[in-house]
Amino acid sequence: MSIIEVTNVNRSFQNGKETAHVLKDINISIEKGEFVSIMGPSGGGKSTLLYLLGGLDKPSTGSVKINNVDLSTLKDNELCKLRNEEVGFVFQFYNLVPNLNVEDNISLPLMIAGKSRSEYKDKLDECLKIIGMEDKRKLTPRELSGGQQQRVAIARALVFEPNIIFLDEPIGNLDSKTGLRIMELFRDINQKYGKTIVQVTHSAEAATFGTKLVKLVDGQIQSISDIHQ
Ligand SMILES: Nc1ncnc2c1ncn2[C@@H]1O[C@H](COP(=O)(O)OP(=O)(O)OP(=O)(O)O)[C@@H](O)[C@H]1O
Ligand SMILES: [Mg+2]
Repeated sequence: MSIIEVTNVNRSFQNGKETAHVLKDINISIEKGEFVSIMGPSGGGKSTLLYLLGGLDKPSTGSVKINNVDLSTLKDNELCKLRNEEVGFVFQFYNLVPNLNVEDNISLPLMIAGKSRSEYKDKLDECLKIIGMEDKRKLTPRELSGGQQQRVAIARALVFEPNIIFLDEPIGNLDSKTGLRIMELFRDINQKYGKTIVQVTHSAEAATFGTKLVKLVDGQIQSISDIHQ
């Protein structure tokens, strides 16, 4: 069974009298444990597609299913729960809270969900270990390098132990060496922890960390191919 199933999805945006038809008849099926790389020219609809896959946005027509559940059938609170528990997002700009330290940035989703510190202490320690930043837990983002900040954003996406992780240009702001290390971390998260990953990237090198390549051009899927490691 696919973990994500996209069927005949279209997404249009209305700007005044103009309609921009951004995604056109998209069909993709993603299996559990896959690592999918989405590439294509700027403005082609990659981020729009990623948001639809993660339930942050809704298609104009067509359906997105996660674990065989059509997201359009969910009530707001059910969709919220799914977004919190089933999926994690890492964006290009790390979106960390500047005056919270590493620990608190990572635990933020759990605090918002009303969990107490004692409940998530072990989870926090495990996430810090995965990103290799146990010694930096009390520092704030401004005391960290770009790569370290991105690691914190990754840990924050992992705290709820989501089965699916969405990455939008996760290494776009990093130098190539740091970027490569971050990609190796995602490969571990995919292989050791069995997480399904869907990444949008402009980097051909980053794309090769995936198992499947989707080319999206002008709102349409141009090709879907396997990547041989
Ligand atoms: N909320 C919105 N309202 C109107 N138009 C939008 C909206 N979101 C995206 N678009 C349009 O959809 C098109 C695709 O945008 P999208 O962000 O998905 O591109 P992208 O492939 O991620 O590009 P990039 O590589 O530059 O990040 C753009 O032309 C954009 O203007
Ligand atoms: Mg984008």
